[in-house]
Amino acid sequence: MTQRYANIIGWGKYVPSRVITNADLEKTLDTSDEWIFTRTGIRQRHVVSPDEYTSTMATAAAEEALESAGVRARDLGLIIVATSSPDYLTPPVSSQVQHALGAKDVGAFTLVAGCPGFVYGLATAQQFIVSDACDNVLVIGAELISRYTDWNDRATAVLFGDGAGAAVLQVGDEPSGVLSYVLGSDGSGAEHLILPGGGTVAPPSQETLDQGLHYLRMNGRQIFRFATRVLGKALHQAIQQAGLTTDDIDLFVPHQANSRIIESAARYVGLPREKVFINIEQYGNTSAASIPIAMCEALEQGRIKTGDTVAFVAFGAGLTWASAVVKLGEPSMPTPISRLRLSLPSRLFDPITRVTRTTSAGLMKALAGCLALITALRRRGAKRRKDDG
Ligand code: COA
Repeated sequence: MTQRYANIIGWGKYVPSRVITNADLEKTLDTSDEWIFTRTGIRQRHVVSPDEYTSTMATAAAEEALESAGVRARDLGLIIVATSSPDYLTPPVSSQVQHALGAKDVGAFTLVAGCPGFVYGLATAQQFIVSDACDNVLVIGAELISRYTDWNDRATAVLFGDGAGAAVLQVGDEPSGVLSYVLGSDGSGAEHLILPGGGTVAPPSQETLDQGLHYLRMNGRQIFRFATRVLGKALHQAIQQAGLTTDDIDLFVPHQANSRIIESAARYVGLPREKVFINIEQYGNTSAASIPIAMCEALEQGRIKTGDTVAFVAFGAGLTWASAVVKLGEPSMPTPISRLRLSLPSRLFDPITRVTRTTSAGLMKALAGCLALITALRRRGAKRRKDDG
């Protein structure tokens, strides 16, 4: 069997239009634009309107990714939604997204791994593709943290934002796509980033509400220490596992949690500033959505293109971390043929695809036969000339 690779061939993002700036937060919190920007790199964050949910953002990002990949939702083999802020505890938000996309009967699950959830999703998708279980997998990172934020808590309110990003991975036979990944977890630091209420330990009650246990709580200093300890190392491991060096990385697209943490990881592996993508200024920390949103922006801005090698690294609640090295695959924009395929019902297009495939396979066989015949005739001629001479 030929080696199978998992290429990222399409990408999309969705960010709510409503913006809350640091200046807006200054009006309600004991904070300042200067403090937030110098400590984190954040100037503003996007926040949903009342009629938006994690599923609606995830679906919008996924639709854009499928369009750019030229893949129909019903041709997906699997949908993975990485999130820690689902619409409901159950049913899984992945099934709502699957239904909204019209991906009839396609398997879907929600992956909870904190902010590195999207990178965990890429690793999972790669495994499904290289093992021949699926040809096309959709990975989405979507978070709506503003509804779990205590807007009176300056330790968390200034950091997070809402959004979603998605990627379509497809099987390929060239050595590209997800080249390596590293996944890590250390549950001993669980209490440093936690939403204490609403689960089985502290089910929702008047008491949990009164104590504000339904809001995200964070020990920023501990998380900062943890992040600077694991991030550079995880990035270095992924680059090594891919058989590459830092010089081979065209762009570093890290989880956008804090610009100082990002710079420390880049320094650890010796990546220069111009090879680091940072957009935290506009979005804040969108958790599992931050890497796919940043990847989309890097592509839109021409910072990366097909054939480039990108390194991802993230850390978050769990505590968890993950890194990956990816060589970007096929063109992102739909080709005329994929547009046609998207616009036609499968019962019309599939026979055309089959005929094209059979015809081209037949032509290739005939061409190979002709080449073999020409080579044999030339060899025989050369032998005869040698014998005559
Ligand atoms: N505005 C103004 N002052 C604030 C503040 C805010 N929003 N939040 C905290 N402070 C104050 C603190 O109370 C403290 O005051 P004190 O010195 O009088 O006690 C001071 O600023 C310094 O606090 P500290 O927590 O030491 O700041 P820091 O340099 O560690 O920066 C974070 C705080 C949160 C920006 C930083 O720790 C961080 O980014 N941690 C990682 C968080 C993260 O990435 N979480 C998501 C994981 S996915």
